[in-house]
Amino acid sequence: MNQYVLLTGGAGYIGSHTALCLVRAGYNVISFDNYSNSSPEALKRVEQLSGKKIITITGDIRDQAALTAVFSQYSISAVVHFAGLKAVGESTELPLHYYDNNVAGTVTLCRVMRHFNVKKLVFSSSATVYGDAKEVPIKETSARSATNPYGQSKLMIELILEDLVKAEPDWSIALLRYFNPVGADSSGQIGEDPNGIPNNLMPFISQVAVGKREQLSVFGNDYPTPDGTGVRDYIHVVDLALGHLKALEYLEQHKGIEAINLGTGVGYSVLDMVNAFSTTNQVAVPYKISARRPGDIASCYAEPSKAKTLLGWQTEKTLEDMVRDTWRWQSQNPNGYQS
Ligand code: NAD
Ligand code: UFG
Repeated sequence: MNQYVLLTGGAGYIGSHTALCLVRAGYNVISFDNYSNSSPEALKRVEQLSGKKIITITGDIRDQAALTAVFSQYSISAVVHFAGLKAVGESTELPLHYYDNNVAGTVTLCRVMRHFNVKKLVFSSSATVYGDAKEVPIKETSARSATNPYGQSKLMIELILEDLVKAEPDWSIALLRYFNPVGADSSGQIGEDPNGIPNNLMPFISQVAVGKREQLSVFGNDYPTPDGTGVRDYIHVVDLALGHLKALEYLEQHKGIEAINLGTGVGYSVLDMVNAFSTTNQVAVPYKISARRPGDIASCYAEPSKAKTLLGWQTEKTLEDMVRDTWRWQSQNPNGYQS
């Protein structure tokens, strides 16, 4: 019988790139997604790019019966759990919705996995669990905290999964703490397609460049950083996808739970990103300096050596790759998957 890897939230930005990476590596992939923040078109394009079939199931991770039906029908060896809501601002307005979707959804997923004795799980965590870290680069052992319901939901899930492994040591779980994912597959066929006004820097820059927005607001230039603007660890989504493949291979051999940073270890400022984007792509990105965004931190970048030691993974893409691939996707699909 064929073995499958189940991707919850497989149609999303990181899920679709990971689906492409996994099918190219020979895995059979099932996506389980409610399309609350994605389009079925993304995985159709993954099928076109790879020439491989992806089983797509429309469903919600909070729906135990729907998940049970999938695990009954297919032999699933591992789960990569992307499904979740991720807008920080929205999470402060709709905390119950975020806790229900992200936390309760994960508990339901784990319950069904346990019932079917599927105990390999890769979880999409986030550098947000470090809160306002005291020191950069940030190690996995840094103290955890959260400043908004989105971040709390990720932190709570990490704690729940740690308790699960304490109680049942035969689970194999990787908590992948992503830094700032950007970029797109080099085909320009799949990419990040946010609803409405983008919250994140890179989609905002690319929508300004393509003429959909007038100018970028740079949120603060008085941080204690080299040019005063916020510094982040931007990681190409194709490198990030490969990190999931490596994590699945690692879980084949190891039980227990590991938190692993997925970042480059290098921080770039907002103005570095604007300059790299306009220089590499030869497009103008008009911007103005505005007030700091509440809740933002000055500087956040990874100490990425644990991923190298444990998974044999490190990033390969450059800043130029990130901005060039973002622009290829945006300029070829000015309205995302609606284009
Ligand atoms: P995304 O919104 O593009 O993808 C998430 C997918 O999950 C979407 O396809 C959405 O429709 C689906 N989904 C949401 N709730 C669901 C539910 N209840 N049942 C079934 N499907 C559901 O986001 P992304 O950027 O691909 O992020 C993937 C994961 O990585 C998320 O858990 C996110 O919190 C985490 N993460 C993202 C970032 C980032 O900046 N993109 C950074 C750190 C962590
Ligand atoms: N920024 C601007 N203008 C914008 C958008 C962002 O100047 O229009 C600045 C921010 O102030 C920050 C940097 O660009 O200095 C990056 O901001 P993003 O919103 O792209 O990313 P964050 O680091 O704030 O947060 C992201 C995700 C979180 C996740 C975190 C760590 O949104 O969910 O990375 O992984 F937790």
